[in-house]
Amino acid sequence: MTPPRIGVVGSANVDLVARCEVLPAPGETVMASSLTRLPGGKGANQAAALAALGAEVAFVGCLGTDESGDWLLAGLAARGVDVDRVVRHETATGTALIAVDGSGENLIVVAPGANDALTPDALDLAGLDLVLCQLEVPVAVVEAVVARAPATVLNRAPARALPPETLAGCRAIVANEHEARSLALAELAHVVVTHGAEGATRLERGVEVARAEPPRVTPVDTVGAGDVFCAAYALALAQGRDLDEALRFAVAAGALATLAPGAQGSLPTREEVEACLAAS
Ligand code: RIB
Repeated sequence: MTPPRIGVVGSANVDLVARCEVLPAPGETVMASSLTRLPGGKGANQAAALAALGAEVAFVGCLGTDESGDWLLAGLAARGVDVDRVVRHETATGTALIAVDGSGENLIVVAPGANDALTPDALDLAGLDLVLCQLEVPVAVVEAVVARAPATVLNRAPARALPPETLAGCRAIVANEHEARSLALAELAHVVVTHGAEGATRLERGVEVARAEPPRVTPVDTVGAGDVFCAAYALALAQGRDLDEALRFAVAAGALATLAPGAQGSLPTREEVEACLAAS
C-alpha cells in the first residue's frame, strides 16, 4: 500500500526562548536565566514531527527572504520534510517570543511576519491525501485548504473565528480547552480536545466518546507538545487507524515531546511512541 502523502499548511517561526523561574504576570518584569534561538512555528513543528514519525510530508508556508528564512528552510529539509512548495516574501520571517518556566509551562507571543503573506493562490496541494493546518496563517488560506484538500485536520491554534462551513468541512478539529470553548461543539462531528498533562478527549457533536490518559513523564518544556500531538493524530487518521488508537498514539507522542527544550527538540519516532504505549 502506498503511504499517505500529508501536507502541512502553516507557519514557520524563529522562536526566541527565555527560560525563567516563574512566568511574568501582566505588568511584571522577570529575569531570564537563558535566551535561545530555536526553530519553531506551529506549521513547521507539525511538519518536522510528521517526518520524525516516518510520514511522507510536504510543508506549505511562507518564509522571509532573510537569513532566518534560510535557516528554517534548511532545518526542515534536513529533517526530511519536502520544502519545494514553500514560498518566500520580502519581509521578515515570523518570530515567536516565548517564556518557559521551571515546570516547563510557557507563554507565547507571535509576530507573524512572512506567515501573513501566504495567500490561497500560492497553495500547491497537488498529490496530497490529507492536509494539516493551524491558524497562524491568514484565515483565507485555511478556508482555501478546507475547500480544496481531499481531507483537512485543523488545529484551531490560536483560536480565531472561521466560517461555520469551514469548520464543518474539516475531517477533524484539534483544540486545547481554551480553543475549544468558543467552538459550537454540538455542530461538529469530530473534535479532539487536549487537556495538557491530563491527556485528550474525542467528542462527536459535543458528546465525549473517548478519552486517553498520557504516560507519566516529567516535562522539561511543553512548547510544541500540542504540535506533536496534532501531527501524530493526523498521521493516524491518514493511515486509517482506529480512532481510539489514534487518540492514544497522539497523547503518547505529545507527552514524549515535552522531554527536551524547544518545540522541535524532542520529536519522537513511531517506534518510540509504540514503545511508550507498550510500557504504559
Ligand atoms: O506551538 C508552539 C509554537 O507556537 C512555537 O514554536 C511558536 O513559534 C508558536 O508558533
